[in-house]
Parts: sequence; structure tokens; C-alpha cells
Amino acid sequence: MKAELLYEGKAKKVYQTEIPGRLVLSYKNDATAFNGVKKKTFAGKGRLNNEISSRIFEFLHDKGIETHFIEKLNETEQLVYQTEIIPIEVVVRNLATGSITKRLGMEEKTIFYPPIVEFFYKNDELGDPLINDEHALFLTNVTPIELQEMKGKALKINQILSELFQRLDITLVDFKLEFGRMIDGTIILADEISPDTCRLWDKKTEGKLDKDVFRQGIGDLIEVYEEILDRLERV
Ligand code: TMP
Ligand code: ASP
Repeated sequence: MKAELLYEGKAKKVYQTEIPGRLVLSYKNDATAFNGVKKKTFAGKGRLNNEISSRIFEFLHDKGIETHFIEKLNETEQLVYQTEIIPIEVVVRNLATGSITKRLGMEEKTIFYPPIVEFFYKNDELGDPLINDEHALFLTNVTPIELQEMKGKALKINQILSELFQRLDITLVDFKLEFGRMIDGTIILADEISPDTCRLWDKKTEGKLDKDVFRQGIGDLIEVYEEILDRLERV
């Protein structure tokens, strides 16, 4: 199925396939934080994120959200549609934590209702800076309509996933999405949704069930990712 390696990121590799317009995403066992400054390999992480992201994308399909996901191929790989990735990270926040608390001096756990949507420019050299709509229009080939569409889709995905995680006794605190453009111009959800890209807090204990355990060195990454998968398997 896999042909040449197209791209290697911090947590995934992307391969061409023999079918035009279809790619293989291969999840690595590496975890990085703070723009690659902190790094560690965790046996089993690739399998967990592949499994978790596949389940979440399938759940989104059931709710009418279009994504690049086609199917899970094996433990660490999935087949996706090729898209032109828009170099904007779309972050949705329901509760204040992470970079927004430092940037704007907000108290931890302040509730954002309506949720706050932020754009970050996907650029490792610049450390993925926060940008506004005008910056996005200047820096990328995204159109004003596409930006609004991305914001709208991100908020819809937030509703769907907040409800899903609520059922699992988990608060969806915040998360990051990436969108891609298909050849026909439509914008669809791409990349992954996993504990690498979300903040997930246990409702009862408020314990962190996401990559913050690695970022902050406060727990066992594999244990908490297993916990997320276990709960998703109950849906
Ligand atoms: P932040 O509070 O550090 O800006 O992160 C917001 C959300 O985005 C959080 O759920 C983690 C996720 N995220 C990524 O997926 N990739 C990144 O590079 C960063 C900085 C955050
Ligand atoms: N900044 C990313 C994160 O903390 C990872 C990285 O850039 O190395 O999620």
C-alpha cells in the first residue's frame, strides 16, 4: 500500500500510495513538546493515537462532519484523502488553561461561553504564533469564506466532541484542529484528534488525560492514553 515517504512530522509520517489522492498516515511513538525542545519515545503511543483518532473521526463522520479519514489500515497506520493542508492551527477553548492564561492573564479554569476560537500560524521557525484573520489572509492562500468556514466547523466539532467526552466523564478543555483543501476546493478536517492535540480532564478527579502529563512531567503518558481509548471503546 505505502509508496514513497512524502513528509515526516514530529508525531507522524505521511506516505504516498499507489492510488492518486490517497495517503497513508503512520503514527510514530515520539512525543514532543515546546516546539520539539522536549522529546521522548513511548512504546505503544503510535498505536494508541491511531486508534483514538480513527474512532473520533468515525464518530464525526456519523455526525455529518467531513474529514480526510478513510480507514484504519493496521495498528499504527490509516488511509486518508490527500489534501492541501492550510498552515493554520485552529484552537477551540472551553476553559482557560495553557497559553491563553499566560498570554492574557486569565485565571485557570475560567469558563469561555461562547467558546474562544484562535488561529495559530503553523510555522516551526516562528514557534506557531497566534495570528488574527487578517494575518491569516496575508500569510496563507486561505480566503475569507474559508476562514469563516474553518471557524464554524471548529465550533460544530467542539459541540459534538464536548458531548461525546461528557458521556465518558471527561471535560474537553481545549483542542487543536487542522484543515485541508480537497482538489474540488472543499475544506475538510485533516490531521488528527488525539490526546496529543486535546486537553482532556477527568470530570471526577480533574486529573489530566492528555499530553500535558508529558509536557509537565506529571504522569504516565501511555497509562492516560490507554484510559482515553478504554473509555472511547465504551461508546
Ligand atoms: P495551548 O494552550 O498551548 O495554546 O494549546 C491549546 C491546545 O492546542 C491544546 O489542546 C494543545 C493543542 N496544541 C497542539 O495540538 N499542538 C501544538 O503545537 C500546541 C502548542 C497546542
Ligand atoms: N508544541 C507541540 C505541543 O506541545 C509539540 C511540539 O511542537 O513539539 O503540543
